[in-house]
Amino acid sequence: MSTVSVFPVVSARKKVTVLTFREKKERGEPITMLTAYDYPTALALDQAGVDSILVGDSLGMVVLGYENTLPVTMEEMLHHSRAVSRGAKSALLVGDMPFMSYQVSVEEAVRNAGRFLQNGGMDAIKLEGGRERIEAIRSIVSAGIPVMGHLGLTPQSVHQLGGFRAQGKTVAAARRLLEDARLLEEAGCFSLVLESIPAQLAEYISLQISIPTIGIGAGAGCDGQVLVTHDLLGLFERFTPKFVKKYADLHDEMQKAFSDYIADVQTQQFPAAQHTVSMAEVEWREFLQAAEQEISPL
Ligand code: KIV
Repeated sequence: MSTVSVFPVVSARKKVTVLTFREKKERGEPITMLTAYDYPTALALDQAGVDSILVGDSLGMVVLGYENTLPVTMEEMLHHSRAVSRGAKSALLVGDMPFMSYQVSVEEAVRNAGRFLQNGGMDAIKLEGGRERIEAIRSIVSAGIPVMGHLGLTPQSVHQLGGFRAQGKTVAAARRLLEDARLLEEAGCFSLVLESIPAQLAEYISLQISIPTIGIGAGAGCDGQVLVTHDLLGLFERFTPKFVKKYADLHDEMQKAFSDYIADVQTQQFPAAQHTVSMAEVEWREFLQAAEQEISPL
C-alpha cells in the first residue's frame, strides 16, 4: 500500500550566510530581509524564502507598545530572538543590539553581542552608528561575530536627530554618511542598513563599498531591502512611514475575526456540534444512573 503525505513537500533551503550576502551583491541579486519577533512569523518568513530575518529593536514599538525603541532591554531582545530562531532554520538571523547595550564600553558591546549568538540563536548582530562605533565594531568582529551596520535615520538617536526624520539631505550630511559607510566597511561590517536617506545617495554609497547595503526608505539602488513586518502586514496602526508598501491589512482582519467570534458566542452560534467532544449514548446513560445513585439519599 502506498502512503501519500497530506502535507505539501517543502524543500529544505540552504542556510543563508554572510557569504551568501556578498555573493548576491556580486551577482546583482537583490537581498530580501524582514523583521520578526516570534516563532510563527519566523516560520512563515523562512518558508516564504526570505534571505534574512532581523529581530529588530522595533520590537519595542510594534509588539511591546513603547513610544520608541529606547526602553528595549537585552533580556527582551534575547527572549524574542530565541523564539525566532526556533522558527527559522535557513534565513540569516540578525539580532539588533538595543540602546545602551553597546554604547557604554567596548567590553560590554562584545559581551552583549556574544549573548545574541550564545543565548539568542542569532547568526549576526546589528548596531546603529558611524565613526563613533568603529572600536566596538572592530572588537565584536575580532570575537568572530558578524556585524551589520546601520546609518542614516538611526532610531536609537531619535532625540539627538530631533525626531524620526530623513537624513543625509545636505552636502555635508551626505559626505559624512559616505565617509561613515567606508569606515564601517573597513571596520569589518559584512553589510549595512541605510535608513531614510535620499535614493541617489544610497545608490552612490552602494556602488562605492564592497559590502551589501540593505535599504529601508532609501530607494531601489541598494543591494537589498528591509521592512518592519508589522508595517508590511498592516499590523501597526499607530502610523505607517511613507516608504512602506502595505501587502495586507491584518489589523482590520484581526478586528473583524474577533468581532465575529464575540457575536458567535453571544448568539450561541459557537461552539457548534463539530467543535464539541461527544460521548457514546450508552456511556452517558450509565454515568447518569451511577451519579444519580450516588447523590440519592439512602
Ligand atoms: O529595528 C528595526 O526593525 C530596524 C529596521 C528598521 C532596519 O532597525
